[in-house]
Amino acid sequence: MLKGKDIISALDLTHEDIMDLIDLAEILRGKPMYDIAKDRILATAFFEPSTRTRLSFTFAMTRLGGTVIDMGPEQVTSRVKGETFQDTMRMIDGYCPDLIVIRHPVPGSAAEAARIADAPVVNAGDGTNEHPTQALTDLYTIWREYHGLDGLTIAIVGDLRYGRTPSSLSYAISKFQGNKIIYVSPRQLRIRREVLEKIKGKVEYEEIEGLDEMREPIHVIYMTRVQRERFEDPREYERLKGSYILTREVVDGLKGNPIVMHPLPRIIEIPEELDGHPRSRYFQQAQNGMYIRMAIITRVLDLRPP
Ligand code: CP
Repeated sequence: MLKGKDIISALDLTHEDIMDLIDLAEILRGKPMYDIAKDRILATAFFEPSTRTRLSFTFAMTRLGGTVIDMGPEQVTSRVKGETFQDTMRMIDGYCPDLIVIRHPVPGSAAEAARIADAPVVNAGDGTNEHPTQALTDLYTIWREYHGLDGLTIAIVGDLRYGRTPSSLSYAISKFQGNKIIYVSPRQLRIRREVLEKIKGKVEYEEIEGLDEMREPIHVIYMTRVQRERFEDPREYERLKGSYILTREVVDGLKGNPIVMHPLPRIIEIPEELDGHPRSRYFQQAQNGMYIRMAIITRVLDLRPP
């Protein structure tokens, strides 16, 4: 189980871990406040912007009765004086938090933080690499819809090269049986080969470029934004940013009546006209992130849930 463990990659989560967290999230959402994390401290260290992940961890710990200490924006830390990432992590860990949640633009940085810190470390996004708690949020949202995580077809659409949620979602869903992923992206933004290597033989997949090439019914269409901040050439971003725009007409034309998901923030790929669509789930998905993070904190800190 997850007691005292780092959560760095969705690959490290077992089928049993995932189902236990989903079951617990479902219980914990039944009450707004608990006091099971009294006297426990969560430290958040975000070296990249975040709305959902940082705030949902903060709300989650607060709802469990614990305390959150946030590092604040990097510009107000001694990083601007030249302090290394390693020393910053050593300092945060030295103040004895019970758990550290970290986001950083460099792939592998969460694993590096975990090597430095005695406290368990949760990866809240390390560059283009992974975002395992988003994958748990995604699976929880899918499970709430379909009451299971086997035998599903999921289309993951957009920037699959620079996005970290497609890789973590692929790893997480590969722990279940009979699923298929349809990767939909422009040629320049295809899913990274290393991701395909890791899921080979565990989940069926295919790659296509156009939504109109999708012939089979799907359960989920998972949109992602084109990640402007990862492009070296801004003109390339401008060329690709509007590759997929999910209008009401496009959604209604998809076979299988899929739910629409997105890790958010959305830019132009999901217009506001879709917000009231009966199959849109992206705002519920963001809210589910708080409940699944309550479950993660509960398990890693070995709290006593009701
Ligand atoms: N989904 C997600 O990671 O959102 P934030 O970047 O706002 O945390």
